[in-house]
Amino acid sequence: MATAAQCPIDPNQDDRKTWQLYEEGRIFKKNAEVVYEGTRVKDILRSPHLVQDGMDAAAAQRMKPEEVPLIFLDGKAHRDRRKHITSYFAPRYIKEHFEPLMRKTADTLIADLERDKQLRIDEVSWQMAVTLVGDLIGVTRGKSRDDMKKTAKRIENCLYATKMRMMTGWQLKLAKLRRAYDMMVFWRKDVLPTVKARRAAPQDDVISTLVKENYSDTAILADVMMLCGAGMQTTREFISMAAWHMLEKPYLKEAFLTADYDGKMGILEEILRLDPIVSTLYRRAPQDLNEKAKDEFAAGTRYGVSIRHANHDPELVGPCPHAIDLTRKEKLGDQAPMMSFGNGMHRCPGSPLAFNETLFLMDRLLRVPGVKLASQPKMVWEPNVSTFEITNVLVTCD
Ligand code: HEM
Repeated sequence: MATAAQCPIDPNQDDRKTWQLYEEGRIFKKNAEVVYEGTRVKDILRSPHLVQDGMDAAAAQRMKPEEVPLIFLDGKAHRDRRKHITSYFAPRYIKEHFEPLMRKTADTLIADLERDKQLRIDEVSWQMAVTLVGDLIGVTRGKSRDDMKKTAKRIENCLYATKMRMMTGWQLKLAKLRRAYDMMVFWRKDVLPTVKARRAAPQDDVISTLVKENYSDTAILADVMMLCGAGMQTTREFISMAAWHMLEKPYLKEAFLTADYDGKMGILEEILRLDPIVSTLYRRAPQDLNEKAKDEFAAGTRYGVSIRHANHDPELVGPCPHAIDLTRKEKLGDQAPMMSFGNGMHRCPGSPLAFNETLFLMDRLLRVPGVKLASQPKMVWEPNVSTFEITNVLVTCD
């Protein structure tokens, strides 16, 4: 166990922003055995004997197999489906295809700050995330900025407008109708035109792959919505969080701007480790649990694993677990983001996209002369999805 004496920073330093929010708002799925200890969290996420039990996993069991989104699949079906997207996240593809788009989008967004002298980071982070994941999917590729903004709004309506998990009764019924309408609009204006275009002339995007594999319209929409939720909402909050940390800590901003690529990554990884966007993941031991796994797990048990506790476990991350440590990456290497992207077979394939788009946007933002935080960001906790949303991240410049 690490002790205060080993801590190279101030042993009382706590850079976490979302901890209190989490402590006050956390709830877990019914009957879940909650696991906090880092190594056990890792073992659960890496076990091939447990199955996905996240948000809508029960609903996914009632769908046709080909219409179940990737994240809810297990075993061979999961491996086969995941192959469809992994090549888009290879370092070479990120460098050659996405990096130019990331730089161009960052330039366009930060030019607004230079012109207007103020900018809401929580709004541009959404545009950045939608542009990149939308390009991967195919729905924003080649669109003008105005059309891109309209697509971003339609996706936001589908994902954000109705916080259905908090609702009951007539409110829930209305919200479901509204969501069905928003999905229909997104399908007709963004997804269907892309599907038709890719049937005629395939490109290197996810919709082209799904079309080639003869996916039904419902299956295409299910995978597209899953990618929007998994890739856009998460990155939006991460960009706002990274900007907030670096704009309020001059030493961190300086370290980021003077660091090489790996050094910048190390800082972003520390920020995400401290304030992970996803706090809890779920796995279930099936009733017919493999004999080999019975020493470790109990058949029928639902495990809720705490990403936050694992990320702050000194046994895994070393001393000063609640502080941003600029040297942690040197010590932990590829393990530095800890469990922020999960672990094992469902580990987030989009992590290089999320980190790189944040890196290029931050590098552009923090170089603007006189850039500073001009408001107190606000956060709300979303207990049913164990995450948070940040708003009011206003920056100004000279
Ligand atoms: C900071 C941003 C992001 C965070 C914090 C994040 C976090 C996560 C986590 C924790 C998981 C594991 C879920 C589980 O084990 O049940 C996951 C899975 C996933 N993420 Fe991300 N993610 C981010 C960005 C992205 C991006 C940009 C994409 C690209 C579209 C993406 C696509 C996915 C997909 C497809 C899965 C499911 C993988 C599978 O089940 O095999 N994510 N993400």
